[in-house]
Amino acid sequence: MADNMQKESNDWDAKKYHKHADFVSNLAMPVVELLNPQKGEKILDVGCGEGTLALEIEKSGAKVIAVDLSEDMVLKSKEKGLEAYMMSATDLRFEQTFDAIFSNATLHWVLTPDEALKQMYKVLKPKGRIIAEFGGENNIKHLLHAIKAVFEKHPKYGAFNNPWYFPAKDTYKALLEACGFEVIMIETIVRPTKIDDITHWLDVFANGIIKHLTPKQQAQFKTEVKTLLKPLLYSKEEGWVIDYERLRFKAIKV
Ligand code: BEZ
Repeated sequence: MADNMQKESNDWDAKKYHKHADFVSNLAMPVVELLNPQKGEKILDVGCGEGTLALEIEKSGAKVIAVDLSEDMVLKSKEKGLEAYMMSATDLRFEQTFDAIFSNATLHWVLTPDEALKQMYKVLKPKGRIIAEFGGENNIKHLLHAIKAVFEKHPKYGAFNNPWYFPAKDTYKALLEACGFEVIMIETIVRPTKIDDITHWLDVFANGIIKHLTPKQQAQFKTEVKTLLKPLLYSKEEGWVIDYERLRFKAIKV
């Protein structure tokens, strides 16, 4: 999922995303099942990426409006026949028209989560539901540790600006409630996830944090992160398995 709702925190390369990150939507079918879309419903997909899941949702007969901050991803979604717009989760330019909001692997890019929740509340009909999944409190813990260690080792790289928000379950539940939602369920799911290579993951998802470095420094950064992570996330039997932890919830506008 092209989940960049925080302006300029990542550059999305649609080709690389398609090649190395299809696991993002492949693993999200339980979230679509939790959404349980109904024929005739109007559903907003926040952070639609290539539109794979929006298409899946439309199979129910629901109408999906798909939004993403990446122009490339919006184009990919349009190519699939979806109604898609370039828009941020913190600036949803719609009226109160949606029966439901769906969001997969996006909300961890939003560093002002209350703003996004207020916007989602605004565009939902009364009793409308939001079903979402994103990175939880311990998501990519080893990876973050390695990234921070490499930045610390090279002061000339500058400070590491973490572009991700991985909240604890209780923190996010309280935020949902403060924004006017009733939380029907919220759970943490530890989900180690097979990826093809950590370098590709960094290329697709972490290019924003090193874009100020020279090409040589970027290559060195990736090599050092990979070296630190290999004993923790790589095995001959399974290859690379990244330490994902998901936060999944269903909440209703009251
Ligand atoms: C995630 O899906 O957990 C994720 C994706 C990109 C960056 C950080 C986390």
